[in-house]
Amino acid sequence: VNNLKKEWLGTPINELNRMPQCAPPLSHLKAVPNHTITVRTDLLREGVVPVPYPTKFKDAWDDMSVKMPCSEKNLFPMETEDSILRYNTAHTKRWDFTALNLLCTEVSLISVAFLFFKPIPLLKSRRNHSLTLSQEQIACLLANAFFCTFPRRNSRKSEYGNYPEINFYRLFESSSPRKIEKLKTLLCYFRRVTQTKPVGLVTFTRQTLNNPPHWESSQSQLTRLHITSKGAIEDDGYGMLQVDFANMFVGGGVTGHGLVQEEIRFLINPELIVSRLFTEALENNECLIITGTEQYSKYSGYAESYKWNDSHKDETPRDDWQRRCTEIVAIDALRYRNFLEQFLPEKITRELNKAYCGFFRNNANRKHLSAVATGNWGCGAFGGDTRLKVLIQLMAAAEAGRDVAYFTFGDAELMKDVHKMHTFLTERQVTVGRLYSLLNQYSTVVCKNCNTTRPDISLYRFIYEKAYSPTPTSVLDSAKDSG
Ligand code: AR6
Repeated sequence: VNNLKKEWLGTPINELNRMPQCAPPLSHLKAVPNHTITVRTDLLREGVVPVPYPTKFKDAWDDMSVKMPCSEKNLFPMETEDSILRYNTAHTKRWDFTALNLLCTEVSLISVAFLFFKPIPLLKSRRNHSLTLSQEQIACLLANAFFCTFPRRNSRKSEYGNYPEINFYRLFESSSPRKIEKLKTLLCYFRRVTQTKPVGLVTFTRQTLNNPPHWESSQSQLTRLHITSKGAIEDDGYGMLQVDFANMFVGGGVTGHGLVQEEIRFLINPELIVSRLFTEALENNECLIITGTEQYSKYSGYAESYKWNDSHKDETPRDDWQRRCTEIVAIDALRYRNFLEQFLPEKITRELNKAYCGFFRNNANRKHLSAVATGNWGCGAFGGDTRLKVLIQLMAAAEAGRDVAYFTFGDAELMKDVHKMHTFLTERQVTVGRLYSLLNQYSTVVCKNCNTTRPDISLYRFIYEKAYSPTPTSVLDSAKDSG
């Protein structure tokens, strides 16, 4: 008998698929109508800084492209590097750069001269489109974001009202320790990329789910689960599809006050932040997949206790497109203020489709798909129930044909409960469709008639009793549920 507390349960993590081992060879990288590439693909070489393409800045001041600081149409032409307020004359009175003054050293070294750019397409709603940029180009764009030079981006009411904030001005206000640690993390990135030019590419893909699965009739069986109370998605989930617990405005509060899972990930992998420049708010059936970002910082703590610790050397291998084999998917859960609301069938379906949109890959053979590395998605700032959300994610992963590595973030009870439930469902061969109907029954039988804030019968107890006894015998059955 082993008295040691188990730190993980289920399938050993090393049996789950990771990139690059699990993937088939990539097709040749080439620009097609739904994939914009801003470098010369024919000159792409391992270890060599990619050559921008085209070689001259092409201006576009239209509603399909990012409006660039260097555009002729920009009313605030570029002059010097310390021109934050010169670019933003309307804000000179309101903006406060206290935190910046405390810390600003490295970034002033960055040239804001433009690497040649073709117009950067906006990744707009309901359009599947990919954009591949070089890490060097991203560094240049982020330096501009740091200096707040992107035009038309400082007002919520502007034409970019449905886009995240990109200019960093909110990072510089107030003297909160959070801001200082965030700036340290970003300055570490700027220092690194100015010391040594990064040589890879990063792809941003907006994916829309047009034909959601018929959940009620799904015959899929649950896939394998590794569950652990130790570790984190970004460390132990290397090579897997890593979930970003996102906001519909990707990056959430990264340029402001926010400092939970998504913001931390965007800080340690700052190339993620550039997605805010061109990614319109995600709709219910959409996600953003980011492949190839690099981790530049180590951190400790979380939220109030977050600290930048050190520079991080990322040794993740690169794929044939010179991208780090780090695939992150931004999926935004719904925010719940009322606990019971999340059990409504339409809410469950929304979350299933959102997760499925993030996990499914068109034309992919499931044996080539990496596992999903995830955790308490939607269950922190967004107030969701971990025991429901884990089932939703397991169902979506099953439908998409991927195994799951689940990080409970220190919650040993959750680890045990979920492992037990997963084992039960797998042994009884409960399909995704059956589970979906059990969730719906829970909603109508338990939640609908509940007049307290929490259901009096737990979800897992309900599932155990229902799935054990197909005939209505237990206390859980009401007249309404006799069909
Ligand atoms: N690895 C594994 N699990 C983690 C990690 C990690 N690195 N970090 C946190 N957790 P939260 P949400 C666990 O609140 O509820 C942001 O502002 C931990 O148990 O970040 O979906 C976004 O921009 C934590 O409580 O996600 C959105 O606006 C739980 O995951 C909003 O928060 C949920 O983390 C999304 O909130």
